[in-house]
Amino acid sequence: MAHQWRGVIREYADRLPVTEATKVITLGEGGTPLVHAQKLSELTGSEVYLKVEGMNPTGSFKDRGMTMAMTAAVEAGAKAVVCASTGNTSASAAAYATAAGLKCAVLVPEGKISMGKLSQAIAHGATLLQVDGNFDNCLDIARKLGEAYPVFLVNSVNPARIQGQKTGAFEVVDSLGDAPDIHVLPVGNAGNISAYWKGYKEYSGPFETANGTLPAVSTKTPIMWGFQAAGAAPFVAGHPITEPDTIATAIRIGNPASWDTAVAARDESGGLIEAVSDDEILAAHRWLSAKEGVFVEPGSAAGVAGLIKKHAAGEVPAGKTIVITVTGHGLKDPQWALRTEDGSDVQPVKVPNDVVTVAAELGLEEN
Ligand code: F0G
Repeated sequence: MAHQWRGVIREYADRLPVTEATKVITLGEGGTPLVHAQKLSELTGSEVYLKVEGMNPTGSFKDRGMTMAMTAAVEAGAKAVVCASTGNTSASAAAYATAAGLKCAVLVPEGKISMGKLSQAIAHGATLLQVDGNFDNCLDIARKLGEAYPVFLVNSVNPARIQGQKTGAFEVVDSLGDAPDIHVLPVGNAGNISAYWKGYKEYSGPFETANGTLPAVSTKTPIMWGFQAAGAAPFVAGHPITEPDTIATAIRIGNPASWDTAVAARDESGGLIEAVSDDEILAAHRWLSAKEGVFVEPGSAAGVAGLIKKHAAGEVPAGKTIVITVTGHGLKDPQWALRTEDGSDVQPVKVPNDVVTVAAELGLEEN
């Protein structure tokens, strides 16, 4: 039977804080592909899968949480929402606010968000303010606006966001038939690692709902491996960083909001949060597009960079199942694909409108 995916709230309603009466704001998020990564599997001797979150309606995993946050905003009678963002949250908030009929204001660090994400927020009619500061400064202001002004905060400090994002873990288990052995993902504000861990835990044991107890779906929980950009790695430092810096602007964050829950995810799962350099991130970005056929934005490649780095150190076990969340689409920030490994720009070859010259340029001989 054909089944049209109905968005994460309706698909997982029995495990989310909603009721039959809830007016759901959705753009059909979730249900993203779990792609077998052929070359990473060959490299590691484990079965490696990519959870391709760029396939969400606004091109990142943020839509899973935003459907819940915007549904909660409408339920609360809000007229306007606000968020701070390195780009993807603002794109998602702007789109979902439009679907909900709400006003949306977004605060982004000036000059540090990609053109694709900036255009999304503008296209969806959000009021976008570029703050003379970094993401952490933007989040401080957004929180204060939410407390003292009539606007509803849709950053992941809002628990509705984490509720929605935990469905990523449900989908992985539903696809594989059980939890993987290791789950790898980039870490910035640390909401996503917290959300996946919550989802994996809830799926691995009985789950109490208003309508009774749901049985466990998985037999185990994975080890969580998080990776931060080396210039923005507060979990590795063990304290907030005041001047975070990385080319991976999505995860250019020095003072993560979900600190305690991310540390709990790491420690309860027996996992780790480590750092990868910008060069390692760009190499993984290139690996994904050139070897696996999956185009992501640089920040999204941090998990893959981490796996490759751990493999080189002999620390990736063989014969396991490993899932890596690749968090956002490559078209969000395409400029990085147009740079060669030595840092120069790729120049497409120009040819005249003539088949013989084109064939010669392609190295083809007439048959
Ligand atoms: N990958 C991408 C593409 C992101 O946009 C983000 C966060 C992360 C990874 C990190 O996830 O914050 O849950 O640890 N982007 C936020 C934003 C901060 O504003 O779009 P996290």
